[in-house]
Amino acid sequence: MTAGVDRGMTRFAGSDGNFCGMELSKPAVAARKLTKVYGAGEARVLALDSVDVDFAAACFTAIMGPSGSGKSTLLNLLAGLDAPTSGSVQLGGKDLTGLGDNELTAWRRTHVGFVFQAFNLLPMLTAAQNIRLPLDLAGDKLDREWWDTVVDTLALRDRLNHRPSEMSGGQRQRVALARGLITRPDVIFADEPTGNLDTRSGFEVLSFLRRSVRELGQSVVMVTHDPAAAAYAERVILLADGRLAGEILHPSKEAVLAALDELTTLVNV
Ligand SMILES: Nc1ncnc2c1ncn2[C@@H]1O[C@H](COP(=O)(O)OP(=O)(O)OP(=O)(O)O)[C@@H](O)[C@H]1O
Ligand SMILES: [Mg+2]
Repeated sequence: MTAGVDRGMTRFAGSDGNFCGMELSKPAVAARKLTKVYGAGEARVLALDSVDVDFAAACFTAIMGPSGSGKSTLLNLLAGLDAPTSGSVQLGGKDLTGLGDNELTAWRRTHVGFVFQAFNLLPMLTAAQNIRLPLDLAGDKLDREWWDTVVDTLALRDRLNHRPSEMSGGQRQRVALARGLITRPDVIFADEPTGNLDTRSGFEVLSFLRRSVRELGQSVVMVTHDPAAAAYAERVILLADGRLAGEILHPSKEAVLAALDELTTLVNV
């Protein structure tokens, strides 16, 4: 049993991993004319400028772009962690922008997984308690089979009774990922999930994200600065000055580097 089978998505998960064709599926998350303005008057910043973008289900998408281009803003709006100034976000077939605060919180708990760069684990809870926290908050029962899949795939079995302070950075990040996965969300959003990790731990996390897409039908949207990390994705979206500036399908590290170079040149002109 996998999440992919549950949602009828495995037909897209070919062994070559090339299943991000938008025509094949309804998007897991879609933004329409998404706009975010911070501040007012002289301090006004147009962080996102009428962005239209779809993210296919069972696809691993990376978001890249220069610092300040709006990547975290986009991720936060897509995940319903912040409200847009205008425009809409559809996630799991629901318009998030139409929901009230309580409804949104409840929806997010079961449909969205968010992996923060700083992990955001609760220090007094063990790894096991941190992982099951979203289920406990939502009052949902633990699916033992799914728990075993997540815990074993992330190689956390022998760390379940440890507190975050007793774990390495890579292990903490894997606990944060497990917490994001445990509710089987429609989409996992990750903001620089490898930013704090050494190369080996970063590789473990990226490999897991890719496997969760290919083998479990998970949809993943990840912000990263690292072209090598972006090359794990099946699609890269480029942002510049709060707008979509390009897209790379089946990216290689070299293709990502070249696109970023071009983008920086354009932005600096
Ligand atoms: N809470 C805020 N108040 C005011 N301005 C903000 C706020 N958050 C972000 N901004 C501004 O919005 C723009 C986009 O910020 P955002 O954090 O989305 O960029 P980013 O692409 O994630 O950058 P980085 O790569 O440095 O993380 C920036 O100009 C930033 O200064
Ligand atoms: Mg950011």
